[in-house]
Amino acid sequence: MKDEELSRDRSRRAILLIAKSAFAATPHMEMRRLAEGLAKAKPDFTVHYALTEQGTPSLFEGLQSLVDAQMDSVLIVPLVLPMEPSFSNWLKKSLARWQLSDDRRWPELSIAGDIASSALMMALIDNLMENSEILAASPAKRAAPEGSLVPAQKRRVLVCEGGSCNSAGADAIWNHLRNQQERQKLRVIGDGTMTAKSTCLGPCNLAPVLQVFPEGTYYCGVTEHAVDRIIKEHLLGGQIVDDFAYHPTGRKQRLRNSCMEN
Ligand code: FES
Repeated sequence: MKDEELSRDRSRRAILLIAKSAFAATPHMEMRRLAEGLAKAKPDFTVHYALTEQGTPSLFEGLQSLVDAQMDSVLIVPLVLPMEPSFSNWLKKSLARWQLSDDRRWPELSIAGDIASSALMMALIDNLMENSEILAASPAKRAAPEGSLVPAQKRRVLVCEGGSCNSAGADAIWNHLRNQQERQKLRVIGDGTMTAKSTCLGPCNLAPVLQVFPEGTYYCGVTEHAVDRIIKEHLLGGQIVDDFAYHPTGRKQRLRNSCMEN
């Protein structure tokens, strides 16, 4: 194989390091440093990082950029401890869902083993112990805490993180909503919107579910596209988005086709 062909072939293999959240600059720098260090150690791979809950690039965005770059394979390495089964399920289901909704050729995806079961874990802990820091025996008394501002926001969005919603991609919905909240400054625009995760909100078979207050509107079968419309039309425009809204009827309801197509 010629050098040029070899380098083209090599550039199509990627490693995607994933962590859960990073908003501040320091954790981003940490992830970047890890990715750069790995890229030096593995020159045959393109190395990126992404975040699954809060912060950018999100996992969805990170994967999209590797699909855009026409990678042949992507090895996803979760830097997550402990690796909860629900996280692992969510990851596999989200990857399958994203591939199904995108007609382009996707790279072959694989997921590395979890950190806790690595044979090198004990060596890592040993190494960390060598760099431990002794804390002062009796920390200096801290000043009395200041009071807290009572939030002025009138709107609240609850994103269900119960089992059914998690399996249906609730983390991706949460991640997308939080990123849009930052980008569009939703906390301070209009009525002001706060967001929070919740346990089961009730209509599990209509997952993933979120609820918008003060109206208490349920949105079910929510996708990233639905979140964009809910932000624009409901949170900022004050109009319930009937394409995704479910109102109590006293009878069992199924996901509408429009939800599954969006
Ligand atoms: S798990 Fe989300 S509504 Fe029950």
